[in-house]
Amino acid sequence: MGPLAATRLLAMISLTVALDNGLLKTPPMGWMAWERFRCDIDCKDDPENCIGEGLFRDMADRLAEDGWKELGYEYVIIDDCWMSMLRDEQGRLQPEPSRFPGGIPKLARYIHDRGLKLGIYADMGTRTCMGFPGTTLDKIEIDAQTFASWGVDYLKFDGCNSNPVQQMLGYPLMSKALNATGRPMAYSCSWPVYVGGLPMNVNYTFLGDICHLWRNYYDIQDSWDSLQSIIEWFSNNQDDLQPAAGPGRWNDPDMLIIGNFGLSVDQARSQMALWAIMAAPLIMSNDLRNLDNSARAILQNKVAIAINQDPMGIQGRRLLQEKSHIEVYWRPLSHSASALVFLSRRTDMPYHYRSSLAKLHYNIGNYKAYDVFAGSTVKALNATTEFSVSINPSGVVMWYVYTEQQSKQMEILHYQQKKASQFTFNNAKPGHHTVL
Ligand code: GLA
Repeated sequence: MGPLAATRLLAMISLTVALDNGLLKTPPMGWMAWERFRCDIDCKDDPENCIGEGLFRDMADRLAEDGWKELGYEYVIIDDCWMSMLRDEQGRLQPEPSRFPGGIPKLARYIHDRGLKLGIYADMGTRTCMGFPGTTLDKIEIDAQTFASWGVDYLKFDGCNSNPVQQMLGYPLMSKALNATGRPMAYSCSWPVYVGGLPMNVNYTFLGDICHLWRNYYDIQDSWDSLQSIIEWFSNNQDDLQPAAGPGRWNDPDMLIIGNFGLSVDQARSQMALWAIMAAPLIMSNDLRNLDNSARAILQNKVAIAINQDPMGIQGRRLLQEKSHIEVYWRPLSHSASALVFLSRRTDMPYHYRSSLAKLHYNIGNYKAYDVFAGSTVKALNATTEFSVSINPSGVVMWYVYTEQQSKQMEILHYQQKKASQFTFNNAKPGHHTVL
């Protein structure tokens, strides 16, 4: 099929595909296997960590029992390498039986019984990125039906081993096929990554109509370098990306790597803060069975989560890049509140950054600020008050900024957060302080 015919077909399909099934009005939260567990299929020598049903049951247990579920972390998502190399006699995908002896429906029940949801991975193309069976155009319907019949709640649809024309047809078709099953499933599309992530190659309005979220850029790796390159790319391209996001349609800068090996505590806070600003999915890829208290405190920070999950769903923006290598990010929130993040890209020592809300384009008025990671309130602040924040190298200071009227609400949140941190994480010391 030539590109022109494909475009015509696409126009026809798009009249009927709107995937507005009411899901993901706020960014999804949960856990996904890939960044931490990759394609470890050696269940003989590494039974604890291999891609098999035990790993997903373990993570479901942790999400349900360690306070994650109550905070909103609800999806348990299987990534690549779950499949058998062969489809069954009916042409359906099937899990590798030695690693998933109970089959996916049983695992789905286990996850649902704990009040959680199950996500699965497939690939629009001839093979998945790791070489397992792909979903070619003729297999889209049967795969959507299979996932629905198993009780799947979320599909990550990757795009290795296909060309742009096949992707242009396949992603909308899968959207339609998922809808046709009658089972509400969240739909994550990797399509943009495979075509460069930006307009003209990506029509974000259309994408938002057919997918709930989409990967725009390269895979995250367990390092500060990788995290920085992602933050930089999303910020450099914010004029194209920021307007694309909203309730039910999210940019996805990839998984949270907090709790693994590559980030310091400050860098972990930076990821949480920036993901909150960007209205990014909070999908952890770590080992929830072995998580230190500082990672847990960052990932379970109620105010950071509330900022991420703000119901208006407006993605934030980078406001400033200072010569001092301090960057300021801002996100508007419900009830006339907002979030500010001061990020240090320096590599020397804590930097005292001076500013005022007026310099950051706030209107005249009285404000209060809550320092999200220090857990303290920054006292009365009017727009012209000069303040100074001390930001650690590769770290952040994150503020929830609100008006006097909201004080009461904040006091309650503050109290809850304090209680939670006294209870579980009293050894997690913030690495910065705020000076007024
Ligand atoms: C691609 C995706 C990753 C992961 C791997 C699995 O690289 O971007 O998130 O799903 O494939 O092979």
